[in-house]
Amino acid sequence: MSAVIKLGGSLITDKSSPRTVKWDSLNDSALQIYKYYKENNAKIAIIHGGGSFGHYEVEKIRKSKNVIDPFSTSLIQESMLTLALAVLKALIDVGIPASLHPTHTICKSNANDCNYFSIINDLNNGLVPITYGDAVFDGEGKIISGDDLSVQISNLINSDCLIFATDVDGVLDEKGNLIREIKRNHYINVINRDVFDVTGGIVNKINKAFNSKSNNIRIVSGKKIYNALNGEDVGTKIINL
Ligand code: IPE
Repeated sequence: MSAVIKLGGSLITDKSSPRTVKWDSLNDSALQIYKYYKENNAKIAIIHGGGSFGHYEVEKIRKSKNVIDPFSTSLIQESMLTLALAVLKALIDVGIPASLHPTHTICKSNANDCNYFSIINDLNNGLVPITYGDAVFDGEGKIISGDDLSVQISNLINSDCLIFATDVDGVLDEKGNLIREIKRNHYINVINRDVFDVTGGIVNKINKAFNSKSNNIRIVSGKKIYNALNGEDVGTKIINL
C-alpha cells in the first residue's frame, strides 16, 4: 500500500497565533499515521502546509513590501523549516522513520519543476519522507503549495490514496454540512472560511486534487486520517473521473 498525506496548515498550527504549533493535533495525526504504517508496512509520503508559519510570514511581507525579494524568501524558508522540524519531531517521537526534504532544496519554481529523486529513494528504502509548502527564489520569490507537491508525488508513485487532512470534517456546503463527494465539473457551493491563505483556500485545493490519478482522494478531518487511509468512506471524496 502507498499513501500520500497532506497535513494542512490549519490542522497542525493555530492560525490565530503566529508561529504556533497545535501539538495535540500534530501528535494525534502522527499516531494515526504510525498505526497505519505499522499495520500495512505502507509506503507513506507526508507533506505539510504553512498555517501560522508560512502563510503568516507571506502575509506580513505582502503588507509591507508587496514583493517577495531574496531576503523575504529566506524569512519564509526559515519559518517553514521551523515548522517542518516540529513535524519531523512529532513523527519520530511516535516511531516513524521520517526524513525531511526541504522543498527549496529540491524545487526550482513550482511543484512541476522539482527533483523528487531523494524522496522516491527514501520511500523505496523504508523511510517516510516529509516535504512541505515553501518559498523559492527564481528571479522572483514564489510560493510552492503543499497541495501541488502532494498531487505531484501521488502521481509519481501511483499512490493508492491521497489524503488531505484538515481541521474540519471535509468540504462543507454553505450551511456547514459535509459534502460527501465532489465530481469534476459539478458546481458546488462551499464555505470559504479561509481569508488567511496565500495559496487559495478550499476551492483551489479541490481543483488541485482533481489532478491526482489516485483512486482514493479525500479531504478529511485530522481525526479521521487512519480511517481514510484504511479506505473508509469518511470526509469528502474527490472523484476525478
Ligand atoms: C503554504 O503551503 C506554504 C507557504 C505559505 C510558504 P500550503 O498552501 O500547502 O499550506 P496550507 O496547508 O494551506 O496552510
